[in-house]
Parts: sequence; structure tokens; C-alpha cells
Amino acid sequence: MGRDGNEYIDYIQGMGPNLFGHAPEFVTRQVEQDMRKGYIFAAQFERELEVAELALEMIPLEDATVRFASSGTEIDQLVIRLMRGYTGRPKYLKFEGHYHGWMDSVNYSIHPPLDQAGDASSPNVVGESAGMDAGTAESIVVCEWNDVEALERAFAQNPGQIAGVIMEPILANTNCIMPLPGYMEAVKRICSENGALLCFDEVITGFRVAAGGAQEYLGVTPDLATYAKSMAGGFPVAMLAGRSEIMEILGNGTVYHGGSFNSNVMTMAAAYASLKHIADAGQKFYTELNGRGLHLMDGLREAAGQAESKLHVQGVGSVFSISFTTKPEIVSWRDHARNCDDAMYARFARAMLEQGVRLSSNGRIHMSSAHTDEDVQQTVAAAHKVLRTL
Ligand SMILES: Cc1ncc(COP(=O)(O)O)c(C=O)c1O
Repeated sequence: MGRDGNEYIDYIQGMGPNLFGHAPEFVTRQVEQDMRKGYIFAAQFERELEVAELALEMIPLEDATVRFASSGTEIDQLVIRLMRGYTGRPKYLKFEGHYHGWMDSVNYSIHPPLDQAGDASSPNVVGESAGMDAGTAESIVVCEWNDVEALERAFAQNPGQIAGVIMEPILANTNCIMPLPGYMEAVKRICSENGALLCFDEVITGFRVAAGGAQEYLGVTPDLATYAKSMAGGFPVAMLAGRSEIMEILGNGTVYHGGSFNSNVMTMAAAYASLKHIADAGQKFYTELNGRGLHLMDGLREAAGQAESKLHVQGVGSVFSISFTTKPEIVSWRDHARNCDDAMYARFARAMLEQGVRLSSNGRIHMSSAHTDEDVQQTVAAAHKVLRTL
């Protein structure tokens, strides 16, 4: 409810962190209770260990240890430094359409204009902001995602240079694109053949698509994985999990990691309450969360069909994307840029807001466990109304 008395069904949910909706009581209670003992210790404390243990029980990575930080951007910086530190190689590989934070080292080729993106077989490294350090582009290899040959070619063109590959295992930042069958296994094989590490950026998918994130959902385990948004009910926590053999050089200081606010009492309390809530609820939590999202996707498809609209949904239940296209499936950023009508989506989102439904500017829907069947019904009814007039 806004101050003006307007009420909205919110699918932005802080761009993902609010896995349980806004201000869940069990998180607030835990934070209130823990923070009475102090806010920051700059030393390990019991709750931190409990969060690490809970998280490691949920995620498939075996023989793993963790590090905490305060945002997805920070933790992705750390993993890139770690991949370089471990392998002694200078470059890392990222994919077009994938987002790993706003820092100079990663803010490249997320959604590059097609006239700057270059040939798909060897994409340009396109900066996404003015003011970035131009030198950082030299250590990035950009590749098309979901294309095994493109990845093989990128490694062949940079022999012994690529420390690791980072990717969103489900491409939530571009149309919620799923990996093609066999693609993840192929990426894992290619990394291993070339002595490079594989990192899944699970900042969106972690603790959202399944307790074990995309690793569990897709059945492929990387060497390293980063988490943030959904792990602390809206509080700013991030986590790197990785095979202990790699993580060891962080522990012994060979690779430096700092941050005054890492694993402070409030955020660890929030992470503990969130992960405990999920662990206690068991599989039911995800069956309901994904189920309600799938229900909403079906309702939106039906509304689109009746209105003969180009509205298109794709993704998994707990996180999916709305776009306007006549294609049955969007498979890459270039495909989105060529075939999706973003202006039409912006008009749709604006009209939905007037009907009391709050949608993100990039089309991504975040389901929360606070959404009800009634919210889904109201959203679908609003879509029927809006699509008829759009
Ligand atoms: C996949 C992914 N990685 C990293 C980030 C950066 O996280 P943060 O906004 O917490 O810095 C985001 C943020 O949207 C993200 O979606």
C-alpha cells in the first residue's frame, strides 16, 4: 500500500531479493533479536557459521567452503579475482546478455546495441557506461551463450589465457532464457579440457529456482558459484561458494578479499532466518513458489491468446520474463534485440500499473511466497483488460 492509499501487487520485489515478500515477520524478528548483541565484530561469530552450514547443505557443490560479502557486484569481483589468482591466467570469459554487476571489470556487453556488437562469431567487448576504465576490456573475452562451437572457438583464439568462465546458468537478465539441452554439460567439459574454472552467477537463481539454485534445477555443478539477492529476505548479503581446494587461496590471503560490512550481525541474522525458513518448509516451498509462477505464466498466455496479442512469457515459475514478440522462444540477447518490442512492453507495464500491478522495467517477474492465488487471478484479469486496449 502506498502513502496515497493505492495498493499494488508487486512483481519487482526489490528486483529479486524479497523472496518472502516485503518485511517478512520471521526475518524482522531474527534481526531484531540478534542485533542486540552488537552489529559488527570483524571476526567470525556463531551465526555466520550457521548460515554457511545451512547454505552448504542446500547447494549441490561438494567439498565446498564459502565467503560472505554485501552485494552481488562485490562477490562477482571476488570470483573473477579468485579465478585469475588460482589459474595465473589474465582473462575471463563472459557471455552477451549476462549481467554480473556494475563495476568496470564486468559492465560490458550486457545489452550492447546491435550496430556496436560486432559479428556474433566473435563479438566486440562493448562498454555499457561512460567513464569506465578502458583497460579492463582487454581482459574480457565475450561470447554468444547457448552456442557450444562459439565457446570452443573463443578458447582456441585465446590459448592458455582464460582463467574462467562466468555465466548466469538461467539467463534471467535477458528474457529468462534457459540453457539448451546438453549446453551446460558441454561448457563444463570445455572448461575442464582448457584448464579454466567455471562459475555460475546464481545471484538471481540461487535459493529462488530451487533450494540448490540452478545447479540443482539443471543438474550441473560448477567449480564456483556466487549468490546474493534471495538469500536474506531483502537484506544485503552475498556469498561465494567454491571447491575448498580453490577457496584455500582466499583463506590464506594469497587472493585478497576485504569489506568492513561483510557478514555483519543484521545481514547474517536475515540470511539465517531466510535459509532456515526454506529448509524447514522443505520441497513444499518451491513446489508452491514455482507452481504459482507457472500458473501466472499460463494465465498471461491465455490472456495473450484471447486478445491476439504478441505478449510472450518464458522462464521458470519463480522467475520469468514478459516480452512482446511473435517468436515462440527468444534464445539470445541478439534475438531479443531483433525480435522483441520493448516499447510495447513499456506501454503494457504502465497500463498494468494503473490496474494495480507493479512490473519491472526489464520484464522480469519475481514471484514471492507472499503472493497468493488471488494475486495471480487479479494479475491475469488486469492483463486481459490491458491487452484488449493495448
Ligand atoms: C545475475 C546477477 N549478478 C550480479 C548482480 C549484481 O548484484 P547487486 O545488484 O547486488 O550488486 C545482479 C543484479 O541484478 C544479477 O542479476
